[in-house]
Amino acid sequence: MSLPNFLQGNRPTWVEVDLSLLQRNFLGLRNWLPQSVKIMPVIKADAYGHGAVPVALRLQKMGADALAVAILEEALVLRDAGVTCPLLLLNGFWPGQENELIRCQLTPVVSCPNLLQRLEEAAGRARQRVAYHLEVDTGMARLGVAWEDAAALRAKHASSGWAQCTGVFTHFSTAEDASNPFTRIQLERFTQVLSAAAEQRWQSRWRHAANSAGILNFRESWLDGVRPGLAIYGVNPLPGPQSLLKLSPILSFKTQVMQVRTLRHGRSAGYGNTFCAERDSRIATLPVGYADGVARELSNRGQVLIRGKRLPIVGRISMDLTLVDATEAMGVETGDEVVLIGTQRGETILVEEVAAWGRTIPYEILARIGGRVPRVYLGSDST
Ligand SMILES: Cc1ncc(COP(=O)(O)O)c(C=O)c1O
Repeated sequence: MSLPNFLQGNRPTWVEVDLSLLQRNFLGLRNWLPQSVKIMPVIKADAYGHGAVPVALRLQKMGADALAVAILEEALVLRDAGVTCPLLLLNGFWPGQENELIRCQLTPVVSCPNLLQRLEEAAGRARQRVAYHLEVDTGMARLGVAWEDAAALRAKHASSGWAQCTGVFTHFSTAEDASNPFTRIQLERFTQVLSAAAEQRWQSRWRHAANSAGILNFRESWLDGVRPGLAIYGVNPLPGPQSLLKLSPILSFKTQVMQVRTLRHGRSAGYGNTFCAERDSRIATLPVGYADGVARELSNRGQVLIRGKRLPIVGRISMDLTLVDATEAMGVETGDEVVLIGTQRGETILVEEVAAWGRTIPYEILARIGGRVPRVYLGSDST
């Protein structure tokens, strides 16, 4: 795709998100899992940088059972945009947010007695029931009630007042490694809590544990529902090649060459003069930088595609500009399309690859694509 129409006259740096591929990934998962297993896609952090509203609306239309965000502010944006399906707030809520979440029929995660008390009181005042999910910490040691405190759990969450516990879940810390026994240990701890609490009819609540890697590696973790994030965006959650599910990346990150100059042999480029031309070189300047989410770690390490060729990023990435050695691609000129993530003329740069260059994980590369980069949505319902 050349420059999207609405970018005419603006900086030509943008992200394309293909919603028909999102749909394909979601339906692939839906058809692969038993129908009894609910799917709650995770769309926190602006749907991992893809844009939460269009992603949520499409997933809702596809029949997602619920959607998960991190915080209330994210859920409110979705409600305002017409997302009506259940929304789980994975990080719970802060004192003072109770009324808003009850009004908007949001489902917070609660695992602290004080917050449960506040929720119960606020719901009582509003005379409106509010659902919440209880997180059980089985080894991540981040949020949730420790699995050893199952007895306390039973006492606190048994009764249903205005605040009703409609789900119980845990979160894995090593699910991408199928050979690591820790996920099975976590599952065992979770199962212990669930069976100890069986007399409170927790069996009828929504029990969930698996993230994308858990879904693929641990069939026994599917329980009543799963919480895929990375997989629905078409990113492989496992370290090796994709096998079980054919996932299609839905995001491309693009820009256009802004200027091209000759850098004479021996001359340097960029802050700190960290790149020195070993031959007369053609250097392309790109109107994108670390403020847009191009990790500074990619300085002198990353690659981009121009004219279907992989070309090295040279010199230090600056806030708004990046340099590329375009000598190997004949005739590069101002206005040429540049692909930072995605496919061009049959050559592809995956976000997994970018993450490896940046010594980080695909989640961070995606979530960091800046707010000033416009998102363009392809694959409308009719296509
Ligand atoms: C509690 C919880 N569940 C599920 C997910 C989805 O994880 P993934 O993107 O690996 O599928 C996340 C993401 O960080 C999470 O925090």
